[in-house]
Amino acid sequence: MAKAATVIQNGGLVAFPTETVYGLGANVYNPKAVASIYEAKGRPSFNPLISHIAEIDFLSTYALTDQRVIALAKRFWPGPLTFVLKRIDTNPALDLACAGLRTVTVRMPNHPVALELIKKSGVPIVAPSANKSQTISPTTARHVFESLGNRVDMILDGGQCKVGVESTIIDVTGKNIVLLRAGGLAVEDLEQFLGEKILISNGNPDLPTSPGQMLKHYAPAHDFRINALSREDGEFFIGFGKVEDCDLNLSEKADLVEAAANLFAYMRLADANTKYAKIAMSPIPMQGLGLAINDRIKRAAYKK
Ligand code: TXA
Ligand code: MG
Repeated sequence: MAKAATVIQNGGLVAFPTETVYGLGANVYNPKAVASIYEAKGRPSFNPLISHIAEIDFLSTYALTDQRVIALAKRFWPGPLTFVLKRIDTNPALDLACAGLRTVTVRMPNHPVALELIKKSGVPIVAPSANKSQTISPTTARHVFESLGNRVDMILDGGQCKVGVESTIIDVTGKNIVLLRAGGLAVEDLEQFLGEKILISNGNPDLPTSPGQMLKHYAPAHDFRINALSREDGEFFIGFGKVEDCDLNLSEKADLVEAAANLFAYMRLADANTKYAKIAMSPIPMQGLGLAINDRIKRAAYKK
């Protein structure tokens, strides 16, 4: 356990058991580690990831809560219930885990190994299911090994997951609670506790429709041009690889994991720069994490 916590603190990946499915864990505040999650899973887009926490009190510095959320957390945590909340932790290191959204997604897993790992690491642990993208979620350590093998630094074996399906995800950012993913906690149990109906979202959270629409919404304020081979007048230029005359370079050595880790922070910096009214970015190769980067920047460059 001590070794696993050190791996997390040093930016490595640890697969760990929860009551739902095994998670592929990284330090939420380390964008390079978060980028390597997407690479290990072979995920073609940046979905927002769930932050796993071990103490309810931590929530108040991380996300906007109200009595309703605290009551739900006290009743159902630790357990298979995940909240989408308004983010208040503005640390840009969190941007990649949140896929650039102004929400943060949080749960407290009900498994002693997961809780101890989070406490020992001293940071929230961001974790999607510990399997290759578009394959079945793992409910044993062996499943994780068969899917991800040596792409993870460590796998903690906590036996078979008791619940076996992913957590129930609800959006609690608005007046009405909206179900984003049916999961290990029955909607009826939530409704009975709340004494109100939960709305069912039409979007499937595994398809990037709902986060996707939001990504478009949170595009940079500045005009944004992608696949730019050089800078034009008035443009803040974000390069990739061997590019002269750029203001920032996502990765001089053309490393896509490094580029993914820098992407959101650099877009923020470019957008905040008042000297330029436009942003341009070098072409990003369509391989490995380049797929997810291109997916994100295409949305950001989308013109309404
Ligand atoms: O049981 C679970 O929830 C497991 C264990 C490891 O905790 N984790 C898990 O994570 O299933 P993942 O990344 O495989 O699924 C989370 C889903 C994704 O489809 C993501 O798009 C959606 O939740 N999601 C997360 N934050 C969201 C947000 N702010 N808005 C819409 N969808 C969101
Ligand atoms: Mg999954």
